[in-house]
Amino acid sequence: GRPRRISLDDFRHEALDEVSSTNTEAFARARAGDSGFLWLTAERQTGGRGRRGRPWVSERGNLYSSLLLIDPAPTEQLGSLPLAVAVAVHAAVLSVMPASGEPVEIKWPNDVLIGRKKTSGILLEAERVTDGRMALAIGIGINIAHRPDLTLYPVTSLADQGVSVSAPEFFARLFAEMAEVLAFWDEGRGIAEIVRRWRRVACGIGEKITVNLPDRSISGIFSGIDDKGILLLDRGPDGIMSVAAGDVFFG
Ligand code: BTN
Repeated sequence: GRPRRISLDDFRHEALDEVSSTNTEAFARARAGDSGFLWLTAERQTGGRGRRGRPWVSERGNLYSSLLLIDPAPTEQLGSLPLAVAVAVHAAVLSVMPASGEPVEIKWPNDVLIGRKKTSGILLEAERVTDGRMALAIGIGINIAHRPDLTLYPVTSLADQGVSVSAPEFFARLFAEMAEVLAFWDEGRGIAEIVRRWRRVACGIGEKITVNLPDRSISGIFSGIDDKGILLLDRGPDGIMSVAAGDVFFG
């Protein structure tokens, strides 16, 4: 692999009060010439975004954060970035949970679940800025003090799990885990290890799942992910199907 380029000292952090979305704010910084490795956190968001065009309820008390990276890696390496981020968020959540707590797992591709309920979501967005530079916003939301009222999937918060930690305290852990995992990911050869770590804490491997694609739903046995993070769905006589993007439901 290449020599390590990312280190803990590269990162800066700016705490904001209210923004529309920390991802949007990160892109604004990129357009204004920021060179990346900038973490933005906000107390609340007025236009928080989730995956697949969904809103992300963003009241005070939870963590809303985005890490801005500029031209972080060759395109072929970027596919594994969501997995690396999930592994880091998982480690941060695990670090605050009591040993007797419910299992902390990753739901493909990068939700972090506690006891099979979602406690964190990750939204990666890319935008081309001046001089052809590619800005990447890694948006991470963690349910700390409360959870939204949702019917789409079960949700929980750290408070629900009996964990009392503030958003800034949790962010300090996330910051450290992300710096470590990203440095490792950046070495290139760290990717295989990140995929291994992801698999070890994956939720539902070997179980029946349904994947919602934009135009249809498909069911099968979740047989794991390939080395690029593609979901592998065992469809019995129809063979193994590769899924690059979709929403997973268990059972
Ligand atoms: C998901 O749907 O699971 C992804 C949720 C991502 C939410 C975070 S909160 C910080 C950042 N800013 C946003 O507008 N979204 C992400």
